[in-house]
Amino acid sequence: MTEHSFKRTVIRNSAIGVGVGLILVLVARVTHFPVVFQMMFFIYAMLGAFVFILLDAPSMKRLEGSRAVIGLVVFYLVISAVYIGGAAGLPQYDPEVEKGKIEKVLKARRARTQQGKAEELIARARVLNERATGIEQQLKALGGGVQVAAGAEAPTSAPAAMSASGDLLALGKEQWELQECYNCHKLFGQGGKKRGPELDNIGNLMTPADLRQKILDPKSWMAEGFEKQYKKGKMPDKYKDLMFDEEIDALVTFLSSLKDTSVNTPKPVKMH
Ligand code: HEC
Repeated sequence: MTEHSFKRTVIRNSAIGVGVGLILVLVARVTHFPVVFQMMFFIYAMLGAFVFILLDAPSMKRLEGSRAVIGLVVFYLVISAVYIGGAAGLPQYDPEVEKGKIEKVLKARRARTQQGKAEELIARARVLNERATGIEQQLKALGGGVQVAAGAEAPTSAPAAMSASGDLLALGKEQWELQECYNCHKLFGQGGKKRGPELDNIGNLMTPADLRQKILDPKSWMAEGFEKQYKKGKMPDKYKDLMFDEEIDALVTFLSSLKDTSVNTPKPVKMH
């Protein structure tokens, strides 16, 4: 092959390499590959072009003896330098950055569970406190004596139970927010971008036991008219792992209180 035609080969193969490289980058970008991958694809295309250029290159003079050994070593060093230098020039994966991201996710979760626990404890303390005050007043009113035990029971337990269920409702509503049920379910006219059923009337359609079962095992019930979403398993099967038992109780209490008949909550169908 003449000097002149080899030059043409170099130009033609380089141009093809750049063309193929650009197409790869375009496809990689459309399919949302990270930038570093886009660069790698371009480099691969250019390496491919380089191989084809080498195939057409005029043959070298034959090396003999020690010159051959030196040639081999030099070739090895040059290729190594190109590889290492090239790789070092690409954007590097930094474990610290990844750690930082994970830390952010964990921080939010830790804060959440701590906050949730603290609020639950405060709520419990409040209920106990009210109950104690009630009993105390009752004792005072009755002035002690044998009837105290029987008399104290009835009047105090009613308000205590009421405030306990009120707290449970608030905790349940909080679980609705924390577990992000609103992402899929519209409630009080809010949320539900991912199109699950509106739940404003679910308290009339499912018993607390049914609701509990649905949360723990979403496949156990299917909302009528949501066959496709049910089959695809749209409702996540993760709450049994994410939620404490008391949190599920609170959420169920909250859901049971939803009895707005003006909203068309679909009929739940028992699946298993
Ligand atoms: C990623 C979307 C998604 C999330 C998040 C989600 N759900 Fe669902 N849910 C659905 C879909 C879709 C259906 C309808 C299909 C089915 O029944 O499985 C449904 C059905 C239900 C039903 C039955 C409704 C009916 O009328 O039969 C209840 C109750 C329910 N979800 C409660 C919850 C609760 C409580 C949470 C939060 C702990 C939650 N869902 C989180 C998607 C979701």
